[in-house]
Amino acid sequence: MAETLSITANQEDRTAVYAQLLPQLEALLAGETDEIACMANVTAALKEAFSFFWVGFYRVMGNELVLGPFQGSLACIRIAHGRGVCGTSWKNNASVLVPDVDAFPGHIACSSLSRSELVVPLKDTAGICRGVLDIDSSEVNYFDERDRIGIEAICALVSRAIYQ
Ligand code: SME
Repeated sequence: MAETLSITANQEDRTAVYAQLLPQLEALLAGETDEIACMANVTAALKEAFSFFWVGFYRVMGNELVLGPFQGSLACIRIAHGRGVCGTSWKNNASVLVPDVDAFPGHIACSSLSRSELVVPLKDTAGICRGVLDIDSSEVNYFDERDRIGIEAICALVSRAIYQ
């Protein structure tokens, strides 16, 4: 069956786009537990829905984050606990919204074109961080509360699919 995404909302109305995207992702992931497959389709769907500059997962592997499925330019493969925006999200087990990456101490610049960032943790049923979803924009101050709420809902969906 060909998987297709139907987003009719204007990209400017991000809340509406997330509202259309979430049930489609729920259907897409229904019954699927493979981590890589779920992450791959979620990054593809987010790229298609929002044209994000970079969107991808990092997975907790021992004492570091390791690059998972992503859409965008080449990225760093391993990130230590507490380093960069991703490592900070892992350490704090909380979302990190960065309006200007140049103002974030220790930001890891995989691309000089990345100007703002949103990172949201993936949590298992015990509430332990098992990975993060990292989204970069080429615009300063791109992300806002609509994105944090929308991406946290998507990360909760992915976590339920993979870590149950
Ligand atoms: N900027 C991230 C690193 C990952 S690249 O952006 C894909 C960070 O500071 O953790």
